[in-house]
Amino acid sequence: MIEFSFKYALKSAIGENGLEEMEIRSLENDLVQARRNLNELRRNGDIGFYNEIGDAGMVASVKETADRLFSKDFNTLYVFGMGGSSLGAIFLKEASGGIFRESYNNENINEKAGENGGGFHKKVNVIFSENIDPCYIHKNMQNIDIKKTLFCFVSKSADTIEVVSQFFIVKEMLENAVKNYKDNLLFITDKKSGFLRQYADENGIATLDIAKNVGGRYSIVTAGTLFPAYVMGLNIDKFLHGAISYRDNILNKGVFENNPVYSLAAIIYLYYKQKKRNIFIINAYSDYLREYSRWFRQLFAESLGKDLTSPTPVPAAGATDQHSQLQLYMQGPQDKLIGFFCLKNFCKDYIINPSGFEEYGYLKGKKLSELLLNELTGVELALATLGRPSFRVTIDKIDEFTLGELSFMSMEMVPILGMLLKINPFDQPGVEKGKKFAYLLMGRKDESMSKELEELNRLNNIPDLTY
Ligand code: PA5
Repeated sequence: MIEFSFKYALKSAIGENGLEEMEIRSLENDLVQARRNLNELRRNGDIGFYNEIGDAGMVASVKETADRLFSKDFNTLYVFGMGGSSLGAIFLKEASGGIFRESYNNENINEKAGENGGGFHKKVNVIFSENIDPCYIHKNMQNIDIKKTLFCFVSKSADTIEVVSQFFIVKEMLENAVKNYKDNLLFITDKKSGFLRQYADENGIATLDIAKNVGGRYSIVTAGTLFPAYVMGLNIDKFLHGAISYRDNILNKGVFENNPVYSLAAIIYLYYKQKKRNIFIINAYSDYLREYSRWFRQLFAESLGKDLTSPTPVPAAGATDQHSQLQLYMQGPQDKLIGFFCLKNFCKDYIINPSGFEEYGYLKGKKLSELLLNELTGVELALATLGRPSFRVTIDKIDEFTLGELSFMSMEMVPILGMLLKINPFDQPGVEKGKKFAYLLMGRKDESMSKELEELNRLNNIPDLTY
């Protein structure tokens, strides 16, 4: 279950910087229209994540592929993917460390893979490279047994230069280490197009598909995320049930009928448009939601940052960053809206016992989680008294179901906000130019990059400062 509190975004609580309830309500027609537009895209098959969460065939093939490949002597899964092709799985991996189970509390669910109902019965070390830093990859390679590793390349386009380059490096290493390098590979890509897909088809490499109509940042419900999640020991059925349940619940109700995901979109929109809050802080008050804030940032930034619009999303962590950024939030420019994301129940807790230290007597018998949540409340109160807006999203506890709910809530809120901002939340035209310069610098020749070649030459001819 996910609960929202918007009190500290309201004028009644924070004064003139706050919103009137009427202002939020005035967006009802726009929100209804935004949802209608989104539903139409879904019905036309233009965007697929709504339907993907109910694709039993996709889930079966993820499980079958994992069970088959890991019936071999593999003990490690090494996943390569950029942006949306790895952030979702990294979020789930980190979150799984804080998973709440009735029967036991554990630090690493993968150690109990068979017990948690996920269905995957082998202990596998799952690691990621979401970058092309050679030292980091080298360090990982030194820590694994290459022969016992399944290398999984996730790329929707099957053409992303970072992933393709990593593949060439891994392929060469495998050729020197094992009899048939193809046995240690899995590609998760578009069903038909792109270099990696073609290579896999021609060379008999194992594959899984990512549906054509699901973009990278919405791909947390596809094989690209679910395969590593299943191998980690997560119950991917429960994760998808959480997403389905959230979807069905919000779509069957009016936008202001106890349906806070739409109020959230309206509040972020109004703070950006009317109150010049250009920065949106995604502040996770649990170590196990830190990667959620990175995943959510990508979803937000790549979906909304276009046509000269959108607040800038910035991830933060509490209570850690109270000792790093809070001063800025309290007394810096009045340009931020802060979203707090926290837990109600923790997988493990400690009772504080300050016996013998009288000055700390007030802590006696208190839980450590109480301190964390009261610190959060303290920050909210302090911000409110300074006329600084925030809202809170509380997740009942971390388990697969709530992670599915949280993911779906985020993937509904962002496109709705995009439609309020009147931009297309499903493309990312801005990232192409940087890629073109990189191609040119790496020696690729292509007519379509003649403009960038001209710009590169002009900039190369400008002398740098020499002091
Ligand atoms: O959200 C997106 O679309 C991007 O972040 C992509 O996921 C990222 O660029 C990787 O693309 P691909 O999956 O095609 O390799």
